[in-house]
Amino acid sequence: MNDLRTRKTLIFNGSPRKNGDTAALVRALTERLEGEVRIVDCYRADISPCVDCRHCRMEKRCVLNDGMQEIYPWLEECDGVVIASPIYYAELTGKLLDVASRFQLYYSARFFRKEDPGLKPKRGGVVLAGGGDGDPKRPYATAKILLRQLNAREIFPLVCSHATNTLPAAEDAEALALVRSLADFLNR
Ligand SMILES: Cc1cc2nc3c(=O)[nH]c(=O)nc-3n(C[C@H](O)[C@H](O)[C@H](O)COP(=O)(O)O)c2cc1C
Repeated sequence: MNDLRTRKTLIFNGSPRKNGDTAALVRALTERLEGEVRIVDCYRADISPCVDCRHCRMEKRCVLNDGMQEIYPWLEECDGVVIASPIYYAELTGKLLDVASRFQLYYSARFFRKEDPGLKPKRGGVVLAGGGDGDPKRPYATAKILLRQLNAREIFPLVCSHATNTLPAAEDAEALALVRSLADFLNR
């Protein structure tokens, strides 16, 4: 069991809507999460996408000096990480993927520098909101690739409110109950 004073959860929110469906699910999650929680608002954070300059293949440092520099230590130390996003064209949003491209630092550690990326083992979760089209399997699979990149060893089953065209996530009792179970999983 983790120490409550030091337990940390990092949430990436890939929605442009401050009070949208993803935000409603993230709110329900944070209301129940214990310890320190930090949310990265991918649309508003000053975080550029990776430009594949390949510097991190040689040194554990990303040369892009932006908001990601203070997120890296959080990524390394946190106990839980959550990818939360609306579904856009059956995928995570582009802004979320822009931010996530900066996880390349850890891929380079493993595959090019042959070093331990220094990421604490974590629990992971995926929270999606969709109007009701298509299948959320693809964005869930993408999110799991990102979570594994971050050393999430255990990943909670998908939490998805997938009828927001007619039922806002804030009123989706099933999705809200799953979000609370995700919080309990991350609190363990
Ligand atoms: C550009 C765009 C693409 C979308 N593509 C999908 C989709 O493929 N499947 C789906 O179910 N909903 C799709 N939606 C609907 C959003 O996922 C849905 O409205 C969601 O609840 C918005 O979440 P938010 O309020 O957190 O931003 C799309 C919306 C936009 C703007």
